[in-house]
Amino acid sequence: MVEIIAILNQKGGCGKTTTAVNLSTALALLGRKVLVIDMDPQGNATTGFGVEKNDVEKTIYPVLTGEIRLEEAILSTDISGLDIVPSNISLSGAEIELSKTIGPHSILKEAMDGVSDSYDYIFIDVPPSLGLLTLNSIVASDSVIIPIQAEFYALEGMADLIKAMGLVETRLNSPSPIKGILLTLYDSRTRLGREVYSNVKEYFGETENIFKTTIPRNVRLAEAPSHGKPCILYDEESSGTLAYLKLAEEIIKLEGGEDNK
Ligand SMILES: Nc1ncnc2c1ncn2[C@@H]1O[C@H](COP(=O)(O)OP(=O)(O)OP(=O)(O)O)[C@@H](O)[C@H]1O
Ligand SMILES: [Mg+2]
Repeated sequence: MVEIIAILNQKGGCGKTTTAVNLSTALALLGRKVLVIDMDPQGNATTGFGVEKNDVEKTIYPVLTGEIRLEEAILSTDISGLDIVPSNISLSGAEIELSKTIGPHSILKEAMDGVSDSYDYIFIDVPPSLGLLTLNSIVASDSVIIPIQAEFYALEGMADLIKAMGLVETRLNSPSPIKGILLTLYDSRTRLGREVYSNVKEYFGETENIFKTTIPRNVRLAEAPSHGKPCILYDEESSGTLAYLKLAEEIIKLEGGEDNK
């Protein structure tokens, strides 16, 4: 059965897109069928897979406005088993348009209805805000991964994010539990890195899963998008590549329930 996972944190630059691109690639290389939906007007996940975002018209935007079906916007990538639904700046008008429709929070979920069965995983790359695009992403997902950058303000805004998820659960009756907290840009050798890790553990550790895999700061992860490739294809030996492969294995171990942990 498909698992739909939103990659979520309204804090900018914490590694959401890097995670969406490389974790999906890793899972596809491990034999899973994966779709990435780019829900960010910045279109960084689209670029990260080498798609020229300004040349595509069939993006997630006309899907959300009901002009085309989601299936029509799916593009295959160079990676076998991995497809994407691209995005670009046109999506920036969507917040206002969606707000005028009935049931503005569940438009993505409804659009995804027919396609879900073709995939093992669908990842939604969410923009850095708590607006309608993000709320649609939470409603459409079965669970969320929250990347947290290991820096001083890491947990700032986390209460607002948890509150937004709680409102989606109670008001829209659409729970989307945390699949895992992912430490990104993490360096266990620095005191700050270790401090942030222990703060995250204190904040979430009792109740939520914190992935055992952490993502190190690795320049190859930052370089790869300019080559239009996931890091896993750009430098297969890099520490970033190895970390995302390890994370994919950790997620595969969770398949079939908590017993496999
Ligand atoms: N582990 C890492 N090591 C080094 N650079 C990284 C790492 N993760 C992300 N980066 C770089 O940091 C920047 C922000 O990462 P990314 O785009 O993945 O964050 P984001 O949360 O999607 O940002 P936004 O909120 O703007 O969508 C990018 O330039 C990316 O290449
Ligand atoms: Mg992003």
